[in-house]
Amino acid sequence: MEHTLVIVKPDAVARGLIGEVIRRFESEGLVVCGLKMVRLAQKEAEGFYQVHRARPFFDSLTRFMAAGPCVAMVLAGEGAIGRVRTLMGATDPAKAAEGTLRRSFAASIEKNVVHGSDSEASAAFEIPYFFNRLEIVSPAERGEISVM
Ligand code: CMP
Repeated sequence: MEHTLVIVKPDAVARGLIGEVIRRFESEGLVVCGLKMVRLAQKEAEGFYQVHRARPFFDSLTRFMAAGPCVAMVLAGEGAIGRVRTLMGATDPAKAAEGTLRRSFAASIEKNVVHGSDSEASAAFEIPYFFNRLEIVSPAERGEISVM
């Protein structure tokens, strides 16, 4: 069982795509274990994307991520990191496969709708950046609910 951090970025939140993004992941069997809306401060966006701090797009990216609310979530499942990345598609929507979230909805390589951890090491940094232990419910802890 793998965990990964997903962010519905400010462009997607503003366009009313929160539900569609979550639906695509849930319909592929990924389980939501944590979920919150956050408005990042510029410094918080910079901390999250520190791995990209030397890149020319760093200032623009972090300003964009702080420009409006995001929805952060922890998804769990077998191979969750890779499965999320497949469902998102390539960073550049022009290169993303047909049917992926970024191909369907992204406006540009920066305003690309969704973020997902790219490795186990990234997930280990990114999940606790947004969530403390009490805010993450494991699939086992979710239990079974019988719907009447
Ligand atoms: P994400 O998967 O969140 O990881 C880093 C982000 O930086 C990426 O999605 C894009 O939003 C952004 N990004 C990556 N490459 C570029 C680029 N060449 N120009 C602008 N933004 C980029």
